[in-house]
Amino acid sequence: MKEMRVALRNAGKIDPHSIEEYINAGGYEALKKAREIPQDELIEQFEKSGLLRGRGGAGFNTGFKWRSAKQVDSDIKYVVCNADEGEPGTYKDRTILENDPHTVLEGMAICAYAIGANRAIVYCRAEYPFVIDLLKEAVAQGEEKGIYGDLKFTIMTGAGAYVCGEETALLNSIEGKRGEARLKPPYPTVKGLYGKPTVVNNVETFAAVATIVNNGPVWYSSIGAIRYPGTKVFTVSGDIAEKGWCEVYTGSKLSEILDHFGGVRPGHQLKAVQIGGNSGAFVTPDQIDTRIDIESLSELGLALGSGSLFVIDETRDMAEILVEVVAFFAAESCGKCTPCREGTVRILDLLTAIRDGEGQEKDLVTIEKICKNMQVGSFCPLGQSVAVPVMSALTNYRQDFLNRIQ
Ligand SMILES: Cc1cc2nc3c(=O)[nH]c(=O)nc-3n(C[C@H](O)[C@H](O)[C@H](O)COP(=O)(O)O)c2cc1C
Ligand code: SF4
Repeated sequence: MKEMRVALRNAGKIDPHSIEEYINAGGYEALKKAREIPQDELIEQFEKSGLLRGRGGAGFNTGFKWRSAKQVDSDIKYVVCNADEGEPGTYKDRTILENDPHTVLEGMAICAYAIGANRAIVYCRAEYPFVIDLLKEAVAQGEEKGIYGDLKFTIMTGAGAYVCGEETALLNSIEGKRGEARLKPPYPTVKGLYGKPTVVNNVETFAAVATIVNNGPVWYSSIGAIRYPGTKVFTVSGDIAEKGWCEVYTGSKLSEILDHFGGVRPGHQLKAVQIGGNSGAFVTPDQIDTRIDIESLSELGLALGSGSLFVIDETRDMAEILVEVVAFFAAESCGKCTPCREGTVRILDLLTAIRDGEGQEKDLVTIEKICKNMQVGSFCPLGQSVAVPVMSALTNYRQDFLNRIQ
């Protein structure tokens, strides 16, 4: 498998502390170029056939989001970079930011120009203090050179809660409120931070923006899968020969990515790959040649999510793994709505009993029922997504649970 680097094009090549090295590598040229293009035309380049689909998990059309914020008349607009990265096993955004903070700031500045925003905020995971320092240093360098004009950057430390990665909970957190999701609509592009139009995009999404402006939409759309073009950064962990990150064409096979890291650890066989963090499903060995793009995965009921691949070999028991997964959700549920607050704890109790040999077969049916209720009744995607790993494990690896029961 061949790597292709777009978001991470400067990784290992430039000193992330040096704006001069970024500029010498062609940095901030795209911002100059973008500012010469009329705003609507610039947004149109990103809108075209869903050119840049958000890399934060949902795969939303970035141009469409920018258009929506541009259309609202407002004295203040915000661009927010979601660098909360709370999904277990995921560190792609950290990798991008610690290697090349300016590429993300440049992408945000281009977005700010496109929608007419004058404030930009990076909301960064609290456990990445070195990234927060690096970002502050990078902003000061850019400001000293007058690169951002009237655009004012703020670097904010995240609240340390998984739910604050959800864009509306994130906005609440910036406003100093409890990190709880807001009802949508209105969408943040219309009524976002402090009620003003706000674009929230992921780090990896912003990191691709400058290359698209520099090389054009035709170039970007020629890379990778047709309906999800470009590249994707993955972080691979678990029972793999080598752990690490890579950036590949969308449409690459999952198996190719695992091979790139030497495959399952020596002497063992693949049992599952949890794709997209704790809220992702378990890919079975017979699905391992699936191509990594939104359409191919959704045909199998899978989603790309955050870009984490957690490899599981035959020595692991799904009953044990699933207890850990659900314990995470039970701890991170914000408590606002009953299906998620109570449902996560109830599933955890039942799964723990099964794992400890104290469960019954009817408990599996109860868990499935709670999952269905959570899917339809939870207020935000955190609660709605708990069913994904749970149902996937109970469906594809049921015997692991039955073994504990028997
Ligand atoms: C519980 C939860 C956690 C999330 N965590 C993140 C995160 O850490 N980073 C991120 O970019 N998006 C996260 N998202 C998705 C965001 O709500 C939003 O879709 C994303 O920031 C939009 O950026 P994009 O369009 O560039 O993908 C999370 C969503 C949910 C429901
Ligand atoms: S689904 Fe969970 S995280 Fe979302 S609002 Fe309800 S309790 Fe909070």
